[in-house]
Amino acid sequence: MHSTTRQVSAAVMKELEEYARAAYSAKDLMTKIVNCLNERMLKYNWVGFYMIERGAAGRDDMLVLGPFVGAMTPHTRIPLHQGLCGAAASTGKTVVVDDVKSDPRYLACSVETQSEIVVPIFVKGTVVGELDIDSHFPSAFASQDRELVERCAALVGKFLETHPA
Ligand code: SME
Repeated sequence: MHSTTRQVSAAVMKELEEYARAAYSAKDLMTKIVNCLNERMLKYNWVGFYMIERGAAGRDDMLVLGPFVGAMTPHTRIPLHQGLCGAAASTGKTVVVDDVKSDPRYLACSVETQSEIVVPIFVKGTVVGELDIDSHFPSAFASQDRELVERCAALVGKFLETHPA
């Protein structure tokens, strides 16, 4: 019998929470999360982190590609006013798009992508980055997926809060 999304999500979260306790860096934890989500959640075809690089005087803040799994993306640096990634980072709200072709904000990464979720990561109430997932399937991100991805993003936020660089 197949496991349900809820069962797989619960097992994935348990594994990631245990890993976070012993992770030696935020990059290590992020690498574990992208690999685990891509392997275990069958519709999560591209999984990656973008972290905010604060611009020096006169320069815009940028989202910079961090650990990821999937095809290389042309979007390695995204300004906060562009794309679904920029929307999530600048509003501090999760963005779920069931059909990327119908959203004018969408920055294309792969012709195969049909739906996307982007979840901000907070440290002490400030957005510091985000977890971005693309799917080759339309409407791949239901409420249980949103809950899982938000918990993964929160795990990184908590790690960063408790392990300041
Ligand atoms: N689609 C994103 C760009 C990043 S790629 O999906 C990896 C966006 O619209 O911001």
